[in-house]
Amino acid sequence: MRERRAAPAAAPRRRENMGIRDRLKTLFSAEAKPPPWHPDRGEDYTTFWTSMSQTDAEAQIATYGREVGDAERIQTCRYIARYIIEALEINETKSVLEVGCGIGTFAYLVGPKAKRYVGADISPHMVERARAFTRDAGGRLEFAVLSRSDLSNFADETFDAVFFEAVLMHVAREDAFNYLCEARRVLKPAGRFYASFQNLLQPLGFKHFLRLACEADQTGRHAIGRVRFHTAPELRHLAKMAGLEIDPRHARLELVENDPARHEARTLTIVAAKGEPPDWGVADGWPV
Ligand SMILES: C[S@@+](CC[C@H](N)C(=O)[O-])C[C@H]1O[C@@H](n2cnc3c(N)ncnc32)[C@H](O)[C@@H]1O
Repeated sequence: MRERRAAPAAAPRRRENMGIRDRLKTLFSAEAKPPPWHPDRGEDYTTFWTSMSQTDAEAQIATYGREVGDAERIQTCRYIARYIIEALEINETKSVLEVGCGIGTFAYLVGPKAKRYVGADISPHMVERARAFTRDAGGRLEFAVLSRSDLSNFADETFDAVFFEAVLMHVAREDAFNYLCEARRVLKPAGRFYASFQNLLQPLGFKHFLRLACEADQTGRHAIGRVRFHTAPELRHLAKMAGLEIDPRHARLELVENDPARHEARTLTIVAAKGEPPDWGVADGWPV
């Protein structure tokens, strides 16, 4: 009978050869509470965000990452609302569209400052909550459910200002670009635009990105509504190619380019004016 030998112990893996799963095991352990976003929540934006907002508490977590009472969310978002009002020159003569209005925080803070405010969202649950939350906010507030990721609900040159707060960072790059083009279309001449994104080059931003990479590595799938990460040069290019002229007085791209490690550099913000129609250089046909 042949002697059975114990299998030789596997040589310890060298750190430099470890895959992302091993290197991040300690950081994002399997026991950690799974994040609320997950591929099973749906394959399109409407299903995903509607599944994320079944109850008020879930809608708060989907929007701000944790349960936040009304007073707290109003307080926390006041600073950004002021920034949006100033950068987009919103006043009682202006009509404003917010895309991805969520549970209505900015409808409440920004809407009453405008002549007309329209809050639109891909999820009917979010719109329902925004409508209920702003019932007594005053001003002319309207809401719309988008049937797809575009602004086909709205005619050309309808609004003086269009903004997306923490929305385009949750869609595919192609969909974000289409939204930039759509925003330009519905803006009046000289209309103004705002959108915020997450910075891939900022250390905390990159850590968040690593977490998503780790999840993708474990499950082999992606949640459609996950956060996406961008860099300042790519946002400059997408804005230019959408016919939006970056306003350097208000945009937060330079700060990020000059000092990407600063905490404030986590967020990249495009503030722009409606510009000339872009030249995509496709007159000769599509590249093959
Ligand atoms: C993180 S929340 C931000 C909500 C709100 N802007 C705020 O800051 O309070 C993202 C919102 O964008 C909406 N959304 C996600 N994808 C969208 C899309 N493709 N088109 C329009 N809205 C979308 C979601 O339903 C959700 O309400």
